[in-house]
Amino acid sequence: MTEKDLESVLKETRQFPPKPEFVAQARLNPDRLAGLYRTAERDHAGFWAQLAHTEVSWHRPFSQALDESRAPNYRWFADGTLNVAYNCLDRHLPARGEKIALIGEGEKGDVRTFTYKQLHAEISKLANGLRSLGLQPGDRVVIYMPMIPEAAMAMLACARLGLTHSVVFGGFSAQSLKDRIEDAGARVLITADGGTRAGQGVELKKVADEALERGCQTVEKVVVYRRTGQRIGWQDGRDLWWHELLAAQAPDCPPVWVEAEHPLFLLYTSGSTGKPKGIQHSSGGYLLNAIVTTQWVFDIRDDDVYWCTADVGWVTGHTYVVYGLLGNGATVLMYEGAPTQPDAGRFWKICQNHGVTIFYTAPTAIRALMKMGEDFPNRHDLSKLRLLGTVGEPINPEAWMWYHRVIGKENLPIVDTWWQTETGAIMIAPVPGATPTKPGSCTRPLPGIAADIVDGAGRPVRDAGAGGHLVITKPWPAMLRTLWGDNERYISTYWTPFKNRYYVAGDTAHRDADGYYWILGRSDDVLKVSGHRLGTMEVESALVSHPRVAEAAVVGRPHEIKGESIFAFVVCRDARPQGAEAENLVGELRAHVAQELGAIAKPDDIRFAEGLPKTRSGKIMRRLLRAIARGEPITQDVSTLENPAIVTQLQEKN
Ligand code: PRX
Repeated sequence: MTEKDLESVLKETRQFPPKPEFVAQARLNPDRLAGLYRTAERDHAGFWAQLAHTEVSWHRPFSQALDESRAPNYRWFADGTLNVAYNCLDRHLPARGEKIALIGEGEKGDVRTFTYKQLHAEISKLANGLRSLGLQPGDRVVIYMPMIPEAAMAMLACARLGLTHSVVFGGFSAQSLKDRIEDAGARVLITADGGTRAGQGVELKKVADEALERGCQTVEKVVVYRRTGQRIGWQDGRDLWWHELLAAQAPDCPPVWVEAEHPLFLLYTSGSTGKPKGIQHSSGGYLLNAIVTTQWVFDIRDDDVYWCTADVGWVTGHTYVVYGLLGNGATVLMYEGAPTQPDAGRFWKICQNHGVTIFYTAPTAIRALMKMGEDFPNRHDLSKLRLLGTVGEPINPEAWMWYHRVIGKENLPIVDTWWQTETGAIMIAPVPGATPTKPGSCTRPLPGIAADIVDGAGRPVRDAGAGGHLVITKPWPAMLRTLWGDNERYISTYWTPFKNRYYVAGDTAHRDADGYYWILGRSDDVLKVSGHRLGTMEVESALVSHPRVAEAAVVGRPHEIKGESIFAFVVCRDARPQGAEAENLVGELRAHVAQELGAIAKPDDIRFAEGLPKTRSGKIMRRLLRAIARGEPITQDVSTLENPAIVTQLQEKN
């Protein structure tokens, strides 16, 4: 969010109450919502237990909702057993067997649909195939797939067998994939020959082969879905075609009942060190939270066609493409491709062609499409849409208003949903039939979610408009359970900062006089670039791994479309490059970062200097670098720097 946006957010006074027509049909109207708040307030654990009984199908019911004995490793519904895939498939078969579960549209326009019955059969075959490879409950499977129905099938086949999946976004590099496979200790990798993005081939199998060549000793088998038919490398004995593995399998596979705390998935995300963290989610609590938030925030109904543009490689794709939606027996669309293929009307054309009723995307996509003009949306029939949503980063009021006016025709609720990979499900968001919205605010915490804003000492900030750290003060069912293999880091990252009293989100926020939350951004060294989460340290270590780089410091800089872009200050081992040499090295370093991490991590700006601004104790003054990257005047005291003269050099273009 830029300073300008921030200022306008702070002055934002517009309010949009829910339309009576929407309230009349909504799952939650103001009265029902108030009732939920009251129940949750009276008995936090009992509130969730009640929902867990009605919304989740248990194999063995639980006897205790919340177990705090190992806090902050909270446990929910711990002695209950269930199967997540059973909840997403089997239990819908009697009433919804012929209902469409998944619609997959490729970038080239190819469309495939799967009813619940078909999906159940495919997933059962895949699960039987995976079992034939000797996988046991608790084994990890890494999924590196394009955004196609088979990615969801792979996740659900794992869930059916009690295997813990870890999806790696298809845009990540071989090195990033290898790091994640190794940290998870995966026995099987599920991938595809390739995919398509913005008219270009994505070489998934090739990257996977590279990752496996570099290590990944635990991987025994690679299951390859044939998506493009492109030529790929093959290792006999290790590589198996998906279709061959499934060919001989029965279309039914008894679900493996697991305990509620059984890890459903790991999802790696960036923090403030160079090493991504494996966020570990549970089965029972996660599923419950996913299901109820889908009802509350998306007001899901049986006749909806729901589309979330997020990739399954991110948490949004887990909770609000797969588990929350299929858990509710909904119809979900998946699109593999770019928003601008063949032109900037693609999203709206998809909405029109499939009669999409609920559309959920990231502010960065809205800003990019806003820039392309109103003609594209206006050329398409968007009349089936009834609810719009955003996620992943703060939305500036200008983009919110465009979304409201041009896509929503001033008629549709917009749900701005705040949550994180760690929270598993939406935490702060409007309930569309009950909450008046304000452009730029994610409004109020949902029922059963206890949020607060505290100062550096952990004292609640009570003054309206005063900023502080966003914290969650009570455990919730979908919370992360730990960091895979590193419980100490789990505790020190999320709990130690406020002496185990609160979960610390890592965001700063303020709350207005109506109790509405306004997220200002991250308070740690995490960037949100086009809604993607990246650690500055990860980009720095990628840069430093280049032979010419001695030192690097990375900061975020406001960007009109991406929200934030990456600005890197680099010190070379040899002389500071200038002119054409600098230009060449910039290109080389950008390519190097893409190779190390993935294209999403490429710095937009790289500036060379002979040194970085450091205090006498050797600490890099990041605040100063941020000001320089933004081209702002320097207001910091630079006299404490070890090398004050460097500031002028850092301000100069290469
Ligand atoms: O900074 C917040 C921002 O995204 C971070 C979480 O990123 P990630 O784990 O990748 O999950 C993104 C999808 C859930 C948060 O700490 N963020 C997410 N949603 C919003 C947001 N910032 C402002 N408004 C939001 N609605």
